[in-house]
Amino acid sequence: MENRELVRMAIAARENAYTPYSHFKVGAALLAKDGRVFTGCNIECASYSPTNCAERTALFKAVSEGAREFSAIAVVGWKEGEKCTSFAAPCGVCRQMLFEFCGPDMPVIMAKSEEDTLVMTLGELLPVGFGPDNLL
Ligand code: THU
Repeated sequence: MENRELVRMAIAARENAYTPYSHFKVGAALLAKDGRVFTGCNIECASYSPTNCAERTALFKAVSEGAREFSAIAVVGWKEGEKCTSFAAPCGVCRQMLFEFCGPDMPVIMAKSEEDTLVMTLGELLPVGFGPDNLL
């Protein structure tokens, strides 16, 4: 699957973001190695801290459907009612959670649009990460 198609799916997933507090809407699309794509959006909460990021929504959907290996993730985010002017990078918690299932070489596609992307590996975003191998 092309990066632009994954970005397109992340942009569509962002439409479902539930963000009555921040109004910052995020969408993610996670490509599993078996070809399935799992999308997610951020889901906020009146007590704030249970809020779930788009990336983890996508990852939890995927893992709960049996996917364990992933090829790429696309992430988009910008404020409701505005235009996208910057890349939305995964937060530290999402980087850590992705590291649980994805190797350091997995591309993270941060996008302002289908054409305008910043691609970094998970290892670049989370260098010297602590993962499952550390517990062996
Ligand atoms: N957010 C995400 O969905 N993903 C990230 O990696 C960064 C932050 C969400 C959480 C919250 O709903 C809103 O963006 C503002 O922080």
